Amino acid sequence: MSGFRAVWFRGDSVASYPRTLDVNLFGAQRLTKALLPELLDEKAPGRLVFVSSGAGTANLSKMSEERRQELLECSDLSAMAAFCSAFVAAYEASAREQEEQPLPHLSSGFWLQSYGFSKACLNRYCQIMAQQHPGLSCVACSPGFVDTEMVKTYRGDAKLKSVEEGGDVCAWLACSPAIDNGYYNPDRSMASAG
Ligand SMILES: NC(=O)c1ccc[n+]([C@@H]2O[C@H](COP(=O)([O-])OP(=O)(O)OC[C@H]3O[C@@H](n4cnc5c(N)ncnc54)[C@H](OP(=O)(O)O)[C@@H]3O)[C@@H](O)[C@H]2O)c1
Repeated sequence: MSGFRAVWFRGDSVASYPRTLDVNLFGAQRLTKALLPELLDEKAPGRLVFVSSGAGTANLSKMSEERRQELLECSDLSAMAAFCSAFVAAYEASAREQEEQPLPHLSSGFWLQSYGFSKACLNRYCQIMAQQHPGLSCVACSPGFVDTEMVKTYRGDAKLKSVEEGGDVCAWLACSPAIDNGYYNPDRSMASAG
């Protein structure tokens, strides 16, 4: 699954955040919709494996309790689209004052960091797909911190995984014969909340 993050660790650039949401969340939704007829084959039910991120869980935990509940109660795409519109409005209002208060920060109950927000919504989308299509296997996972193009400008001390190590949980989820729906950590353990 594709991923887009334009600015590393300094939050987002105002110019790039719509693309982050468009690729990481709406792109995943568009691709899922296009593949769904094939995946809903009763004789060979399919599996959705969303490559999410620990940044999604972190973003969810930084939202206000009210916003968190709002996301977790989204039960269809129109509710999720409305939730995203509220984020965009808060983001743009904040961006107008950006010189005084650089992103990310908490505004209107949202943690204004679009990469993590897109992944928090992706995790909820995975849950919605599981609810709407009980025959389908729906999982999301975090690959961990992986040495790919996306993190090439990272200058911190954290140890990066190889691509093979990062791909482990994704490949395992895609190939294991039986998998419970949910959100998985890089070590293949299931997280209690995603
Ligand atoms: N690396 C990490 O530490 C890390 C951590 C947590 C989660 N993830 C997730 O892992 C997934 C893979 O990321 P990665 O680390 O492998 O990053 P990457 O090497 O930068 O790959 C990102 C991929 O996204 C594609 N992409 C970007 N914009 C696109 C667009 N508009 N339409 C279609 N495809 C687009 C890129 O395609 P092109 O090559 O054609 O540009 C590329 O294949 C992402 O979902 C990312 O969020 C990564």
